[in-house]
Amino acid sequence: MCGIVGIVSSSRVAPKLVRSLLNLEYRGYDSCGLAVCNNGVIDVRKDKGPVKQVSEILKFNEMNGMIGIGHTRWATTGAVTRENAHPHASNQGEFALVHNGIISNYRDLRQMLESKDYQFLSDTDTEVLVHLIDFHFRSSGDLEESIRRMSRDLDGTFAFAVISVHDPNHIYAARRESPLIIGLGINENYIGSDYNAILDYTRNVIPVKDGEYVVIDREAVSIRNLLSGEKITRDIVTLDWDPELSQKGGYPHYMLKEIHEQPSTVESALKVDIEKINLVCDWILNADRVYLLGVGTTYYVAECVQYYCALLSGRHLIAVSSDEFEYIAQLSDRSLVLAFSQSGETYDTLTALRYAKKFGARTAAIINVMGSTMVSETDLAIMQQSGPEICVLSTKAAVAQITIAIRIALELGRRSGHLTGSDYDSHLKSLAALPGMIRRVINESKGFVNNLAQQTQSYRNWLFIGRGIYSAIAREAALKMKEVTYHHAEGVSGGFMKHGTIALIDKSFGSIFFLPPRSSIELFQHTIANAEEIKSRDGFIVGFGFGERVGIFNHEINLQDSDQISAPVLLLVLGQMFAYYSAVILKRNVDRPRSLAKSVTVA
Ligand code: F6R
Repeated sequence: MCGIVGIVSSSRVAPKLVRSLLNLEYRGYDSCGLAVCNNGVIDVRKDKGPVKQVSEILKFNEMNGMIGIGHTRWATTGAVTRENAHPHASNQGEFALVHNGIISNYRDLRQMLESKDYQFLSDTDTEVLVHLIDFHFRSSGDLEESIRRMSRDLDGTFAFAVISVHDPNHIYAARRESPLIIGLGINENYIGSDYNAILDYTRNVIPVKDGEYVVIDREAVSIRNLLSGEKITRDIVTLDWDPELSQKGGYPHYMLKEIHEQPSTVESALKVDIEKINLVCDWILNADRVYLLGVGTTYYVAECVQYYCALLSGRHLIAVSSDEFEYIAQLSDRSLVLAFSQSGETYDTLTALRYAKKFGARTAAIINVMGSTMVSETDLAIMQQSGPEICVLSTKAAVAQITIAIRIALELGRRSGHLTGSDYDSHLKSLAALPGMIRRVINESKGFVNNLAQQTQSYRNWLFIGRGIYSAIAREAALKMKEVTYHHAEGVSGGFMKHGTIALIDKSFGSIFFLPPRSSIELFQHTIANAEEIKSRDGFIVGFGFGERVGIFNHEINLQDSDQISAPVLLLVLGQMFAYYSAVILKRNVDRPRSLAKSVTVA
């Protein structure tokens, strides 16, 4: 969701704020703006459009001042217009504010403020925040107190940052359920909605927790409780992310770069501390119920993990989409919830984890972003160490999560006796070989996948079909396809397809089949039977599989033969590549598809 940055320094901040906005744009990219305070005046410049364009037209770089805030917007309340872009200023221009989150009682608050002659210039919920601060400041004359009072007025979620002519050396910021971090520099300090806001300037950060506010100047930062005002001390976290990793490194898009990084992210995933793997296994074995949680791609990760655990350990763990969890989960203090989240901030997953906690359930999560809310709120955080994932579409983070979960499934299988010693050893070997196999798939299939994408660019409707674990892979590949091409793509299991979906098929419809290696003979044959059913209704069929040509498809891509452990992951990589090359041919905005945002922090 929206990106926030604030910098207070001993030199001009505008050029750095612009750089931060460019790095944050993946969080929201429909409009952007800056507010910089200089000589007792706040200059606000903002408009709809991408950062590069708006910043050039409005000359962001020329704004003078050593303190400022910036915002990239992903519209929630109010259309994409200049007026609705952030920052929002108070009527006399004494305060300017940026916000991420949703204020659910903003209509009532707006009515109250309008009755006191506040003029609203936008349709956003955010604008009430800046007028409320102004309102409370008029009676208290104290900015910190005004922010505390304003926060008490608000229902909903927020991370916001404010600057004021009344205190031109400090940035004030606070959070409730939306992410916020502090960055520590030399003669300058920062606040941000995530690390990408500040990674170009510092690696020293302090995560801010729910219900806290911060005040920063260029030399010091302080954190306090929003309700009590009590001072909080917290350790500095040093990020080990290389800022280089946040650059495109010669690739035309982050998505392609991140697909290519998968061999190394799988290698990092394989280095996860075995003690943590063992602890999760202990918890799984002692739990009355185990839920696997995620939403969007991470839900499909959870589905894959469900299949791997059934296959390798004979255990049924229950995959649930985080947004539906509360309506279906049956929890006790003997339950375990294992979540997957790249950002560690996703609203639906965080809410589900908090819900599970209320029942005394144990929580664990596989997370990419250090210092994120889920890291501090779960009983066990397993860091996947995939490095920053910038493309809005998740690729390398998902594959790394699956890798860690396979490791867990193998350990479970060994301990419960479901796997023989030699099966365990040979699966472990396959897993160790996975990075090399992914590298080969990427390098050797590029041309074939690009060629397929060229040939099929006119197909606007797709079914992605698989059976068993390959149905979860098909659903994830379909999600990638629809997100980035805007074409209709539905992932469905082969058996299910016949019970309705097949009615869609005609010659304008494309179907991609995810075929297991021939060693899973029954699964393979059933999937082929489904392909025949579509072919006989004039559907265009494509096979993604292994080994020799099957011969029935209009187009096939066959990888070198593989095994139960790596085959699903390798086909997922093919699916990611097909979505990528299709989007490039269709000239889509690959790294920032329309309407999407990385890290969905609202309900
Ligand atoms: C799709 C995608 C999203 C995320 C989902 C969860 O390509 O990236 O579906 O997987 O929003 O996000 P995290 O993993 O940050 O919790």
